[in-house]
Amino acid sequence: MKYFYITTALTLILFSPGCISSDQNDRKSQAILEMKRATDFHSFSKPEEAVVTHLNWNASVNFDDRIIRATAIYDIDVRESAERIILDCVDLTIESVTVDGKIVEWSIGPEQPFIGQPLSIPINGKSKRISIQYASDPAADALLWVEGDQPFLFTQSQAILARTWIPCQDSPGIRFTYEAHVDVPEGTMALMSATNPTEQSSNGHYDFRMDQPIPSYLLALAVGNVEFRSVGPHTGVYAVPELIDAAEYEFGTMEDLLVAAEGLYGKYAWERYDLLVLPAAFPFGGMENPRLTFATPTIIAGDRSLVSLVAHELAHSWSGNLVTNSTWDDFWLNEGFTVYFEQRIMEAVYGREISEMLATLSYQGLVDEVDEIMDTNPDDTHLKLHLQSRNPDDGMTAIAYDKGYFFIRLIEETVGRESFDAFLKAYFNEHAFNVMDTDRFIAYLKENLLNSDERLSAINLDAWIFGPGLPSNCPKVRSERIEQVDANLAAWEAGSLATSELPWESWVYQERYRFLSNLSDATSAERMEELDVTWNISTTGNNEVLFAWLEQSVRSHYAPSYNRLESFLINIGRRKFLTPLYRAMVETDQTEMALNIYKQARPNYHSVATGTMDELLRLD
Ligand code: BES
Ligand code: ZN
Repeated sequence: MKYFYITTALTLILFSPGCISSDQNDRKSQAILEMKRATDFHSFSKPEEAVVTHLNWNASVNFDDRIIRATAIYDIDVRESAERIILDCVDLTIESVTVDGKIVEWSIGPEQPFIGQPLSIPINGKSKRISIQYASDPAADALLWVEGDQPFLFTQSQAILARTWIPCQDSPGIRFTYEAHVDVPEGTMALMSATNPTEQSSNGHYDFRMDQPIPSYLLALAVGNVEFRSVGPHTGVYAVPELIDAAEYEFGTMEDLLVAAEGLYGKYAWERYDLLVLPAAFPFGGMENPRLTFATPTIIAGDRSLVSLVAHELAHSWSGNLVTNSTWDDFWLNEGFTVYFEQRIMEAVYGREISEMLATLSYQGLVDEVDEIMDTNPDDTHLKLHLQSRNPDDGMTAIAYDKGYFFIRLIEETVGRESFDAFLKAYFNEHAFNVMDTDRFIAYLKENLLNSDERLSAINLDAWIFGPGLPSNCPKVRSERIEQVDANLAAWEAGSLATSELPWESWVYQERYRFLSNLSDATSAERMEELDVTWNISTTGNNEVLFAWLEQSVRSHYAPSYNRLESFLINIGRRKFLTPLYRAMVETDQTEMALNIYKQARPNYHSVATGTMDELLRLD
């Protein structure tokens, strides 16, 4: 692997946000061209020849035909010898392209699976600015258009879907600043991963700025009738009017999370941290769009019990958004660090008892998924992935998240928390607004932390990063409260503890989830009914608990839950819930019910979710 090295100090000065003189601007762009990025097989762009440094996006959003019509004007930084700049795109209608104001003959190459098409624009070593006038496709994969009296549009760009709504160098190693001018229908507000309005404009016109350089997967746009509420000096929530009160309460501790995070790993680099509650069709729990986390409404539980998801997305403001995985093969650098950081924020704000319960659940999820992946594709259990010629979405498993987490935790436990925290703080600081790949991380780790044979052999980096499964030195998590749940469950299943004697009411969500998700597959419908009648489980407002309940209901053929199951699947598009529920139906000979529900639900889902469900239900 080859990199162009520049000094870290220079990078830090050059990428500090704020006022930048034109001289600094020149040096800034040079630095961008020379970023230490690895080859990214999921992008056609050739950053060693020419890179974008700033985007000026002018767009109008049309719900009637589901099209975004836009002009993307990029400042570019090119090598003397450059003859073209290549951008990624999928199904964009390109209307015209100019270079420094002159119309040029652009070309589009053949489509390749997953990655789309290269848009090639002729330039020379002196070219400064390109402009692309285009329209998105009504079926663009990143976009979800919600119709009806409450129209809503949101984007999901990660991993490689930004190219379906903006022609861009869609590689996480390429960063650029942006500004945008967006026109939206009356009665809606536009929001981006940038400076945001807090009130609706009278003319449907909105302006945005993102002065810190970001990779394209963090480009985000949402349009809908939302309101804003401040919950702290740097924090606030956006939601539709029906949810704004609930959201204001649910996320009322966001400023505490932010303060705790800064206390751990240094100053927050993005000025504000707000959260947008999206329609339930959002395919993820959360997405760390800078300055504005996008979140599923399914974490509004009424009691702030699912706030660890906010801690996770906030943590990405350091791991991911500040220090970014160089390619999707290094995804664990984004997610593993973020799960670790999430747990540390949770520990700081809510105490170790809660964070260790979360770690226990993450361990269980990891063990289950490692077993499953080992059966089919053992290489996918390595932290360092090989996603060339595959959909980067395949890397979104518990490996990057939870094997990544336990690996980082092992390092912490080996060197002690104090040393580890100092190391991590320096790591974020020294690589801020830059990229990181697995090999460079290993070198940095060896140089700065694991500088003795003793530490190195205690950890066994190779086994964790390039080896299969879960190494035997995986840290052990102990949560007495979770052990107590397991004991209760065993006694209940053995018949020595009556349903009414379960301490259900005193359990927090993590305990309830543990109980329900560990019920034996053979649990009878009668016993499910007993639980439901005694503890009203099916009426819970906690969607994680409800999800675990519905999955067991399917496995137990507990028909009284099926109406709830159907409405859950029709209204909610969060893939983490959909996959296990549809799979449970398929595995228990209830495929017909699965197909029936899916037929009604599919039009509501985002492409990320239909992609997975089509495959699971063999409709692709
Ligand atoms: N960045 C991810 C979401 C993502 C990853 C989208 C890869 C597309 C491709 C986000 O931070 C995330 O991890 N979300 C999780 C929640 C979290 C608490 C584990 C999710 O949505 O389930
Ligand atoms: Zn994440």
